[in-house]
Amino acid sequence: MNAVSMSCDPPHSLQEPWQLGGLTIPNRVVLAPLAGIGNWFVRLQAKRYGAGLAFSEMVSSHAVHHGNARTCRELLRIHPDEHPVAVQLFGSDPDVMASAAERVAAAGADLIDINMGCPVPKVCKTGAGAALLEDPDRAVAIACAAARGSGLPVTVKLRTGLRPGDGKGIAVARDLAERGGVAGLSIHPRHASQRHSGRPDYELFAGLVAELPVPVLLSGGLRTAQQAREAFELTGAAAVLLARGSLGNPWVFAQLTGRRAGEPTRAEIVAELDWVLAAAVEHLGAERANRYLRKFYPWYVERLGGTRLEQARLQAALQQAPSVACARELLAATQAREPAALR
Ligand SMILES: Cc1cc2nc3c(=O)[nH]c(=O)nc-3n(C[C@H](O)[C@H](O)[C@H](O)COP(=O)(O)O)c2cc1C
Repeated sequence: MNAVSMSCDPPHSLQEPWQLGGLTIPNRVVLAPLAGIGNWFVRLQAKRYGAGLAFSEMVSSHAVHHGNARTCRELLRIHPDEHPVAVQLFGSDPDVMASAAERVAAAGADLIDINMGCPVPKVCKTGAGAALLEDPDRAVAIACAAARGSGLPVTVKLRTGLRPGDGKGIAVARDLAERGGVAGLSIHPRHASQRHSGRPDYELFAGLVAELPVPVLLSGGLRTAQQAREAFELTGAAAVLLARGSLGNPWVFAQLTGRRAGEPTRAEIVAELDWVLAAAVEHLGAERANRYLRKFYPWYVERLGGTRLEQARLQAALQQAPSVACARELLAATQAREPAALR
């Protein structure tokens, strides 16, 4: 590469390492928190394909504080190969948060993330999630409590507001950066009332990147590698969080980190889903895994290609499979068969 083309390099690239609360993150491509999905093996899968950091699904600080056996055993489980890893907690009581954060640190997390963006009424009516955007002092107290309890760097994931135009998330983001001691902020520039639809406000987000004194990670609307690259360049985000774009698509991490250019083959997709099935059985036992996996099948079957009828047939067969062993047999048979569209 000559000197001229080197000088044209963008100021920061998705493949560049960066610092978050004293941790070195090897690149700027991150798995977002996904409730009911982001367990250790989904995070490990993202890591296998190159993600620099993975956030856990949100975990109740109350359940952890009270030592709920299933929560602690399953949601705080961390695989040795998935570091650095962040565990996301939600809650509205600083003392409970400090106690839960201590347990999360003992479980091996590298970072604690606090959920201040969840719009779901069940969470908000307890004063947690996006409800904290109404109460900046409590939001700051919770972030400080998590750091005190865990001794780990703390980040917060939040929205830009509760309703269009209220700017409440922006005010809380400033408070968290100035008084809350946070190591970074993940901002989803949609209002809580928008849930997960509507165009994220990347211009507003870019202004926050320029203004806030901590790394600001972008979440929202990053369904494809191309969208993630464009939003990263447009906004100057410290990193991009892949959420729905990563479902059944760990290859997006490889594409964004420069490990591969193209889409996966049918054989690769089947082999990857088989890996997920085996991991789910290891995690939950065969019976629970069979039910849990039903939400994973549509993501992968859609990617397999073939006609709509073939997809629908395979989908129905997987959804009705009486056991994971049967599902694995169906997949093996699928791999052996070429879809009509490719014949
Ligand atoms: C099924 C699902 C579960 C989610 N769970 C969480 C969660 O536990 N914690 C959180 O902070 N955000 C959660 N989110 C929000 C995502 O992390 C992300 O901010 C949002 O989906 C926007 O990104 P996208 O448009 O690229 O999907 C969830 C989103 C979805 C679709």
